[in-house]
Amino acid sequence: MITLGIEGTAHTLGVGIVESDGRVLANRVDMFRPPEGGLHPREVANHHSDVVADVISKALDDAGLSTRDIDVVSFSMGPGLGPCLRIAATAARALSSSLKIPIIGVNHCIAHIEIGRIQTGCEDPALLYASGGNTQVIAYADDRYRIFGETQDIGIGNMLDKLGRDLGMGFYAGPVFEKLAKEGDRFYELPYSVKGMDVAFSGLMTAALALHRKGVRLEDIALSVQETAFAMLTEVTERAMAHIGKDEVLLGGGVAQNMRLREMVAEMAHERGAEMYVPDRRFCMDNGAMIAWLGWEMYNSGVRMGIPDTGVLQRFRTDEVEVTWRRAALR
Ligand code: ATP
Ligand code: FE2
Repeated sequence: MITLGIEGTAHTLGVGIVESDGRVLANRVDMFRPPEGGLHPREVANHHSDVVADVISKALDDAGLSTRDIDVVSFSMGPGLGPCLRIAATAARALSSSLKIPIIGVNHCIAHIEIGRIQTGCEDPALLYASGGNTQVIAYADDRYRIFGETQDIGIGNMLDKLGRDLGMGFYAGPVFEKLAKEGDRFYELPYSVKGMDVAFSGLMTAALALHRKGVRLEDIALSVQETAFAMLTEVTERAMAHIGKDEVLLGGGVAQNMRLREMVAEMAHERGAEMYVPDRRFCMDNGAMIAWLGWEMYNSGVRMGIPDTGVLQRFRTDEVEVTWRRAALR
């Protein structure tokens, strides 16, 4: 069985094609890069609507398939930016009705976990999902993926991007922070905000900007920001693992590409006798393969949706979804 999945929650329009054994036959992404400044939902949606047909046909070419070979179509139902979500949903509905194949709307955050499980072979991890818009620690308990900790203000990636812009690093500053931090040699204390299992970054941002105004080198600011923010993430991940007794930790989201974050989480896991898993870069970033894979898992476990059930959910919560596909396996 072949599933085609369409991702469109934020800046990336992705189309992935997977086989029912988890093999990824195609995984095309087209990312909108704003000329300057942040993301404007309408502009991103225009981009998605301009490229979606082309990305679908390129993915089919990569897989050596035609539309007739698709058995199931899935799409990212949320959470995300409304206008972008609607482009992916509309494209999926069009495929479903014209090809007369089932349609499944999936939760984007859960897709990050499921692609991580199939790609890395871990079974029952706590996921540290650190991306642009999302920062959550998620784990499976009682038929749901439950959020054990999350950011109370802004996602870690958006924090780096926004702070980076204010510091003159340009847009998409995450990788710039990583590079500069390697050249840093002095750590400045910044607000460390962990409340229970939640984190918050606004105090850290304000304080980092204040350092900049005092003339502190960008390299040292980057080092201090990374060390502080990643220590917060590592602490809440560890606490969640201890609380629910998981001995696997999975990283997901674009910020999981950061080697310093990986190092800190790996060290924490090692000290607990646990194992850390990180999927390949293509599967950490927003992508269509993860949407296709979760779509298939849901369909295969008996989930069915009619077109009227496929409305987008901008604030779709991870724990709203009943995890039907893991019942027979691990509990
Ligand atoms: P979401 O998944 O929440 O919809 P998104 O689409 O913005 O958000 P991703 O595509 O998963 O997220 O990741 C993009 C984010 O990852 C950006 O904020 C970017 O700055 C950050 N990022 C990418 N590479 C690195 C890196 N090496 N270090 C730190 N951050 C990084
Ligand atoms: Fe994501």
